[in-house]
This record gives sequence, structure tokens and C-alpha cells, in this order.
Amino acid sequence: MLANGIEMLKAAKAGHYAVGQFNINNLEWTKAVLQVAEELKAPVILGVSEGAGKYMGGFATVQAMVAAMDKEFGITVPVCTHLDHGTYEGAYKCIKAGFTSIMFDGSHYPIAENIEKTRELTNAAHHLGMSIEAEVGGIGGTEDGVTSNGELADPEECAKIASLGVDMLAAGIGNIHGKYPADWKGLSFETLAAVQAKTGEMPLVLHGGSGIPAEMIRKAITLGVCKINVNTECQLSFADATRKYIEAGKDLQGKGFDPRKLLAPGFEAIKETVCEKIKLFGSDGKA
Ligand code: 13P
Repeated sequence: MLANGIEMLKAAKAGHYAVGQFNINNLEWTKAVLQVAEELKAPVILGVSEGAGKYMGGFATVQAMVAAMDKEFGITVPVCTHLDHGTYEGAYKCIKAGFTSIMFDGSHYPIAENIEKTRELTNAAHHLGMSIEAEVGGIGGTEDGVTSNGELADPEECAKIASLGVDMLAAGIGNIHGKYPADWKGLSFETLAAVQAKTGEMPLVLHGGSGIPAEMIRKAITLGVCKINVNTECQLSFADATRKYIEAGKDLQGKGFDPRKLLAPGFEAIKETVCEKIKLFGSDGKA
């Protein structure tokens, strides 16, 4: 059932768990995430970066695919189609394409400009019943070719953005997209606590969810995180399972080259990763 992120995040906040955002890249990815969410009765957010949207044939194509699968599989859990790290222009494209939610990442702008653009997009999104995520403080690492140095969010700036009425806020707390380096210092729980103290009941979002130890994830949830984004771990599981299939020469046996067979191990591997994360985040059985 397609839905915006507002109710699911309010419920997560009240219930002290986090909803998983799993980024999608193609039909197999989408099907894997939807099937696991339904099996586990978990609300779910499908993250679509601008690059992934373009790769899949544009945001309207993605929205149509998700809506059709939702109907075809009889999905009963709430499913949100959410732009990930959107630009100002990308956010309008998703509004037009009928997404149920957008993220506007204005963290690289001076705070006054981030506030102005976030305010405008919040009004535009809410007018159409969509939810909106904003960002303060950069998330480190590289995603979709965009590199940023991690930067701890300023709680005062977070409070200003939260006061615009956004539905969820991503604040940099030492988290990084992609693999965490061996010398990573860990999440700054001090920053997280300060951000939540200044933003009241605002649902906080933890980006870079891949590779964060389970204990840190649990602690972040106790401090107010109620949406966690995962991309890299699904990519790694897919690649690993596909490599094993090919290295074992299975694509050369019988009709093993059939894409439905070739992509099956990777598809199952994504399902396993999504299942593991949903259980860790505590959102299973919540829809
Ligand atoms: P990872 O790729 O590190 O899991 O991060 C995903 C993310 O934060 C998407 O916005």
C-alpha cells in the first residue's frame, strides 16, 4: 500500500524502533525489498537516488513500477517511494512523478539558502500529501558519485530546519555512505542527543546504515533515530552472491545463463540482508 512517510515515522518514534530505507536499483531490488517487508509485516521506504532514478528510466518509470508491483503482489504494508539526497530540481521532478516522499539535501548550501529552499519544497510536498526529509551537516563518503566530507550537524541549525515543519531530519553525526574506513571514529552520540534535544519530537534519520555495528544502531534508536538508510550492504550481498554463482561456473551449466537464474542468487542475498536489517531496526511486525 503506497503511503507517505509521516504516519510510519510517527509510529516508529512512539514505538522506539526504526523504519528501514532500502535504496533500489532495478526491478529485482524492488521486488526483493517489497517481498521481505510484506513477509515481515514491516513498513518500508524505497530510496531512489537521482542516479538510480535516471538508470531505471526516470522517476515516473520508478513510481509506475513500484505502484504496479504493490498492486500485483497485494502488498498490505505501507510502502513509501522516497527521493534520496535530492537536488532542488530533482525534488520537483519527483513531486511531478507522484512519489509519496522526497528528501531535499540542501546541506551543501549556506544555512540561509538551505532554509529557504527547504521551506519552499516543504510547502510544495505537503500541498500534495507527500512527506519531506531535510538535511543539516554533510554525510561523509561517496554515494552515486557525489563525495562529501562528514561533518557534525549544528543542533541550532537543525532546530531552524525542523521548525519549517519537515517530517524527518538527517543530521550528520559522523556517519558515512559506503564502507566505513578501519579508522572510523564511530557515531557521535553526543551530537545526536543534542540534535534531538533541540528538535523535540522530530524523527531523525541515520544515513550510511551499512556497516554500522548493531550496538551503535540500537543506541542511535534509543536516542531518537527512527529511519535508517541502507544501500551499500545490499549491493555487496548482491555482488558477492552473483560472483559466487559465476565463479562456480553455474552460468555455463544448462540454461544457467538465463537472467532469471543468473540474478536469482543476488536477489535472494538482497532479501537476506533486508530481512536482517528490518529485524535489527525492530520494524518487523509493526504494519
Ligand atoms: P549506505 O550505502 O552506506 O548504506 O548509505 C545509504 C544511504 O544513506 C542512502 O542515503
